[in-house]
Amino acid sequence: MSSYNIAVLGGDGTGPEVVAEGIKVLEAVKGKFKINFDFHYYDFGGDRYLKTGKIIDSEEINELRKYNAIYLGAIGHPDVKPGILEKGLLLRLRFELDQYINLRPVKLYPGVDTPVKDKTPDDIDFVVVRENSGGIYTGHGGATLVGTPHEVATQVMVYDRFTVDRCLKYSFELKKKRAKLSKKYADKAITLVHKTNVLTYTGDLWFRAFNEMGEKEYKELKRDYAHVDATTMWFVKNPEWFDVIVTENLMGDIITDLGAMVQGGMGIAAGGNINPEGVSMFEPIGGSAPKYTGQHVINPLAAIEAGRMMLDELGETEAAAAIEKSVASACTKLKSLAAGKMGYSTEEVGDLVASNL
Ligand code: IPM
Ligand code: MN
Repeated sequence: MSSYNIAVLGGDGTGPEVVAEGIKVLEAVKGKFKINFDFHYYDFGGDRYLKTGKIIDSEEINELRKYNAIYLGAIGHPDVKPGILEKGLLLRLRFELDQYINLRPVKLYPGVDTPVKDKTPDDIDFVVVRENSGGIYTGHGGATLVGTPHEVATQVMVYDRFTVDRCLKYSFELKKKRAKLSKKYADKAITLVHKTNVLTYTGDLWFRAFNEMGEKEYKELKRDYAHVDATTMWFVKNPEWFDVIVTENLMGDIITDLGAMVQGGMGIAAGGNINPEGVSMFEPIGGSAPKYTGQHVINPLAAIEAGRMMLDELGETEAAAAIEKSVASACTKLKSLAAGKMGYSTEEVGDLVASNL
């Protein structure tokens, strides 16, 4: 029997509701796969911040380091100025826990509507590895003469070879793993996405590091490169070209929202903030959707998928596969994946997945 201590950060808006359904599914998988979970709940988020002025401190972050994983709902409160909770909680956790990989699968399940015409589950099945610890998110920069006609602002895209290499290493290993799963994956390349035609310094660093590592350590894997602007075009036109994509932080942020739409919307899109050597954090990528709070209409499948990714990362691959199968089956029953249009309540969707494992 394996046992895991999980920190649960429900967060803001509908976050706690969707996480509750994810936990329902994890509880349901326990017996069959001989796993035990101990869930410990934390109330970090907008409400606590408004009441106490506190977001999270170093001591609380150190406490989170003791867990096997963190399960996060959503961060973002309508009464808190944008940026405060995002930077003070979500980004701070990603940085301080050194979750340098943001893994975002883009997979269309059968029966799910994609806005991309004529594309099937066979065409839309790839994963984006977003570098999660560097780039423009690190906050290098500043502003002078603010409010004057001569105001100057900079925000610098910072990358070093170590940060790039560790992200590439993870991505090549993932590509190698997927290539073993099926010929379909094996035939496809690992794609570096950047903007080397303009970002000639950081782009060049990524490009050389990618090709050097590929040439030296992963000669058997096909490599490809795509500019980020063209990538958005191909997500829509030829999503079947992709298997593993690796990219820097901001570009990864942007293309994975497009990826979420291509796979059927925020109702199903999940991601993992992964520190392969430390504590990882899993979340639905859709945000807190405050207007739906307490309405029982938000789709919990993305949070359930985040829980599934958490099990995968913990090494519970069989339990994870069972959840994926049940999620896929639930997708064929829902009228739509959009909030309020599912034909089921939030809790009923959780029941649907939990009862079918
Ligand atoms: C995401 C979000 C965050 C990001 C925001 C909320 C800080 O958009 O997880 O993709 O930019 O990384
Ligand atoms: Mn984003």
